Amino acid sequence: MLYEKLKMLPKTELHLHLGGSVNAKTFIELANKHGLHIPVEYEEPDDLYDYDNLADFLKVYSLISQACIDKDDFHRITYECLSRCAEHGARYVELFFSPEEHLKYGVSYQTILDGIIAGADDAEKDRGVTYQLIPAINRELGPERAIQFVDMVCAYKRDDIIGIGLDFDETANPPQVFEAAFNLATKNGLHKTSHEGEVGPASNVVNSIDVLGCERVDHGYHIVDDVQQMNRFAQEQILFTVCPVTTTVTTKWRDLDAEDHAIRVMADAGLKIMINSDDPPMLHTDLTNEYILMVDKLKFGIEDIKTFILNGIDGAWLDESTKRQWRSEWSAEIDRIILE
Ligand code: ADE
Ligand code: ZN
Repeated sequence: MLYEKLKMLPKTELHLHLGGSVNAKTFIELANKHGLHIPVEYEEPDDLYDYDNLADFLKVYSLISQACIDKDDFHRITYECLSRCAEHGARYVELFFSPEEHLKYGVSYQTILDGIIAGADDAEKDRGVTYQLIPAINRELGPERAIQFVDMVCAYKRDDIIGIGLDFDETANPPQVFEAAFNLATKNGLHKTSHEGEVGPASNVVNSIDVLGCERVDHGYHIVDDVQQMNRFAQEQILFTVCPVTTTVTTKWRDLDAEDHAIRVMADAGLKIMINSDDPPMLHTDLTNEYILMVDKLKFGIEDIKTFILNGIDGAWLDESTKRQWRSEWSAEIDRIILE
């Protein structure tokens, strides 16, 4: 059965937000624990996760984050998130988290980090999934705050913190305004990635590479509007971490079947892409479902899927010898699963 095989395939997940990985039942339990009123009517827990644009999605994302307060909360949501990754074949996860969403309610960065790392270490022990962490700058808060944010990340640097991300609503601030914050990250040895081209123009994708020095792009769909730059990034083999279900909620590409869906156009242009789930319970998806949609809707073949998985290893922020070993071992394992 193809679906079972897709679930079993070894995978990386490089575009996943902890705050978007809290299932609705856990969210309600945490809200009750802290006496937080949820200002939305709902019958079933999953009704809370209903929106059809980025701004509405981000409002609920912030609400969920508000219910995560103490170290146990962060332990719980991280453990649940990475366990679900392991269930869907993820062997290695680079996990975004959103400190600003908790700092604004007086939760300390130390508490957030301690809880996340404890939960992730337990998931690694119990489920064998390895991980690194990416604190993400909330671009809506502007460039000055972003510099302070990177300063904070560097002041509390732990081995598990591998890089920085940039997310939230792209219409607020284009990437180039964060040049100083990203330069500071570079100076401190952090890797860099950025959400661009989800709702913003192709120039945002270009500037994230050329001005911010990002090593990969999260989403990046609007690059299809600039064929010359798209061809350039294909040649340069810049990795794009795409998320099929997200496109049906936050972008203009709602129909995964359409021949001109951005992910199909990007792949046909030779862009290097890999498959992710972004905010799985919030988007009523999981990593296996994203792979299924790539086959059933976007019409990629199993050999394409193998390429996307190996692209994920290439783009991971790991040493070359680990990546070489995984490429060879996972390749053999994927061939075995496909042939079974
Ligand atoms: N944070 C979580 N998911 C996001 C998305 N799809 N775009 C921007 N910020 C996000
Ligand atoms: Zn994202």
